[in-house]
Amino acid sequence: MAQLIGGLATSHIPAIGNAIHKGLQNAPYWAPFFAGYPPVQQWLGAQKPDVVVMFYNDHGLNFFLDKMPTFAVGAAAQYNNADEGWGIPTLPPFKGEVDLSWQIINTLVGQDFDIVTCQDMLVDHACTLPLKLFWPEGEAPVTIVPININTVQFPLPSAKRVYALGKAVGEAIAAWDSSKKVVVCASGGLSHQLDGERAGFINKAFDLQFMDSLVSNPEWATQFSTLDLVEKTGTQGVELLMWLAMRAALSTAGPSVKEVHRNYHIPISNTATGLMAFEVA
Ligand code: DHB
Ligand code: FE
Repeated sequence: MAQLIGGLATSHIPAIGNAIHKGLQNAPYWAPFFAGYPPVQQWLGAQKPDVVVMFYNDHGLNFFLDKMPTFAVGAAAQYNNADEGWGIPTLPPFKGEVDLSWQIINTLVGQDFDIVTCQDMLVDHACTLPLKLFWPEGEAPVTIVPININTVQFPLPSAKRVYALGKAVGEAIAAWDSSKKVVVCASGGLSHQLDGERAGFINKAFDLQFMDSLVSNPEWATQFSTLDLVEKTGTQGVELLMWLAMRAALSTAGPSVKEVHRNYHIPISNTATGLMAFEVA
């Protein structure tokens, strides 16, 4: 059976793609952000996962406001990146793990999640940048299963529902007939608001409490409604739902997790950036 070995979570911001492209990792503005990643890169280098299941939100590249699935699972052999208009270089295609995609799709539908199945799917910065941050040299040596959670257009799924989805994904991975090693990854957050009266809003106290909760009390944030989460974290801060899905998947692999590493830095662009890595204990 496949082995779920750990979980990752990182903020995504298009400007990160530009910083990588221009080699600005050691510039004063960027250094405290990029300094978070080497310990996680080393952990991944030692663990050598084969597959990444990526919880992320598409920002209008594959799904636009006219057709917005609440949950969508990729089932493609290849995922292409494309220009989103941020001016960041397009990355080469990523290989899909089709067999695991269908394992996850069948498990989710079997548990009454009404998902959208995508055999053709473009992936945006939220899917590509974490892979680039974790494997900066060349192409990431993994196959992927992208799982979209709508945090872009209301109504959003509740934190409780997202936690249940993550748990079902963890169960699907555990039941997958394969000798491969899998990591689950969350892309998004932490607190940020890009527009409106509260543009630039950041809530460090909440972010840190949320990160702590993921270590030993992972269901803590499921007490909040999506509107509560918007109030506490900003209109785009609700992307932290991805972190909940990732941690819920890990909860199926054992009663506790070991925190491998974390980083928190304010701000990059308009965003409070967070990074966490967990190992299944
Ligand atoms: C920014 C943050 C995001 O999560 C995103 O998807 C786009 C931009 C930002 O802070 O600039
Ligand atoms: Fe985003």
